[in-house]
Amino acid sequence: MNKKKTILILPGDGIGPEVCKPAKNILESVSHIYDLGLSFEEALVGGSAYEETGIPLPEETLEAARKADSILLGAVGGHQWDELEYQYRPERALLGLRSELDLFANFRPAILSKHLTSSSSLKPEKVENLDLLIIRELTGGIYFGEPRGRKEDKPVAFNTMIYSQEEIERIGRVAFEAAQKRNKNLCSVDKANVLEVSVLWREVISDLSKEYPDVKLSHMLVDNAAMQLVREPKQFDVIVTGNLFGDILSDIAAMMTGSIGMLPSASVNSENKGMFEPVHGSAPDIAGKGLANPLATILSAAMMLRYSFGFEEAASNIEVAIDKVLAEGYRTHDLEGSQDTQLSTDEMGKKVLDNLKN
Ligand code: IPM
Ligand code: MG
Repeated sequence: MNKKKTILILPGDGIGPEVCKPAKNILESVSHIYDLGLSFEEALVGGSAYEETGIPLPEETLEAARKADSILLGAVGGHQWDELEYQYRPERALLGLRSELDLFANFRPAILSKHLTSSSSLKPEKVENLDLLIIRELTGGIYFGEPRGRKEDKPVAFNTMIYSQEEIERIGRVAFEAAQKRNKNLCSVDKANVLEVSVLWREVISDLSKEYPDVKLSHMLVDNAAMQLVREPKQFDVIVTGNLFGDILSDIAAMMTGSIGMLPSASVNSENKGMFEPVHGSAPDIAGKGLANPLATILSAAMMLRYSFGFEEAASNIEVAIDKVLAEGYRTHDLEGSQDTQLSTDEMGKKVLDNLKN
């Protein structure tokens, strides 16, 4: 039997709890099949934590996150909290977890299932077999740079985009290593024609590339990268970029796959401990209606098994099960499909569960 591992589930807000439930069922099931020794805890996060405790990331949740071997997060946020002061907003919980746990490396794969080619907003030939990986630096840059704030006497606000050589190097290494395991093509995205911080970024990544001679490195300006993603997405293998550019580019890449409801993500620290979550948000408009697609969260659970624990067989069992369900034509409401194969959130979870290999 594998050593016991504790997974902290943070369902959060909106559709978060609905998509975490089937993902947890599936983790329980593979734990049983492969004797993985997974156990589960749950804690409050985001708006629902604010309602109970007055803050979006209670100390208790942070403690539980530090102790857990891995974290599965649903989603945070909702319109009822939009007017709250900055430090009380649900999103602060996400940023707090990222920085407190030093989850600096964010993996956002955009993989288009061959069964969903027609769901993409791009022409099928542009996206067929698309498989690209965005690696976003997640604990630095303009998201966390100091100083930031407002001028006292004027209606002026400011943030600071700052990166140190160390920060660029450590995300660079993660990206080069990821590229080595894939098609050995790495594109580093910056704004080096304008921003000083990007000039340093480019220098550091270029220097680092000498240690990875097998990886072909290119640099691209972020505006061009946004265009190229829409023009010819298959030219990319791995993209590495800073926090803000990665936020934007990963949403563009997400749409290539037809639905943001399909995309998982992993945020890890240097020991591969991490937080795994769907790329989509809390979707308050469909919360509680059984319309949400649980596949992004289920795929995030698979990423957890692979990245954090090295349980490759269990992870691919889940991915193969999802592929079978999609091949059989089953869809949730966010994906094109016929009425008679349309499933609710729970039904989709159940279908995947039924297809797991015992
Ligand atoms: C994301 C989200 C977050 C971010 C928000 C909710 C703070 O957009 O994970 O991409 O900007 O990082
Ligand atoms: Mg985002």
